[in-house]
Amino acid sequence: MPSATSSTGADREPRVVIAPSLLSCDFARIAAEVERVESCGADWLHVDVMDGHFVPNLTLGPPLVEAIAKVAKKPLDVHLMIEEPLRYAKQYAAAGAHVLTFHAEVAEGPGTAWKRPPAREIAAGFRAAGIAQVGVALNPDTPLARIEPWLEFVDLVLVMSVFPGFGGQKFMPEVLAKTRQLRAGGYRGYVEMDGGLNASTLPQCAAAGADALVAGSAIFGAPDMRATIAAFRAAARSARSGGSA
Ligand code: DX5
Ligand code: ZN
Repeated sequence: MPSATSSTGADREPRVVIAPSLLSCDFARIAAEVERVESCGADWLHVDVMDGHFVPNLTLGPPLVEAIAKVAKKPLDVHLMIEEPLRYAKQYAAAGAHVLTFHAEVAEGPGTAWKRPPAREIAAGFRAAGIAQVGVALNPDTPLARIEPWLEFVDLVLVMSVFPGFGGQKFMPEVLAKTRQLRAGGYRGYVEMDGGLNASTLPQCAAAGADALVAGSAIFGAPDMRATIAAFRAAARSARSGGSA
């Protein structure tokens, strides 16, 4: 079982996790793509699970996550864009998910249907299934207030910087305020950002306080993947230290 520690480096260096999204890889050559992105410096492998209900797109399920886990050496960061995360937690845990993230919008809260489970129950169900790190994701139009009471029982907050469903969308800078607010409030878990991250937007995320950075098209579409991941890591470290990227 791989560990989910951040990239190597001296203790004083800020924690930075570069998590390429496999959504942009060549799925016909998935094993080779996993090996390629790991050898180019990925810290986590971000896996986007979409159910065609919560988001208007369908991707993959537990059997493919299991196939990825068989060849992966790095932790799988599984982002569930699905309506019923609790129902499938055991399957994703058994398939090899290390980080498992559900969306805030599918948990009970103000204005939601009564049958949605409380977030605490979802997180506890994930842990009971054997998940090491539990994440909660926020759509761009979901306010931070919705998850503030949940921060004590999650390891990661995923601040979406596009509406989930597709790779290659444009970064929404207005969501950076949520990342800043999380850190200003003293949140010390991972703050992950996902959607439209590239050489110009990724340092903005890190400067705001994000330490887990997901990029799909910017990494798999790069002419030199290794150099791109190295540049993203360096820019993120510099931005997190308060330097200019
Ligand atoms: C979007 C997914 C993202 C996506 C990011 O719904 O959650 O992980 O793969 O792709 P890029 O980096 O191309 O925006
Ligand atoms: Zn994602």
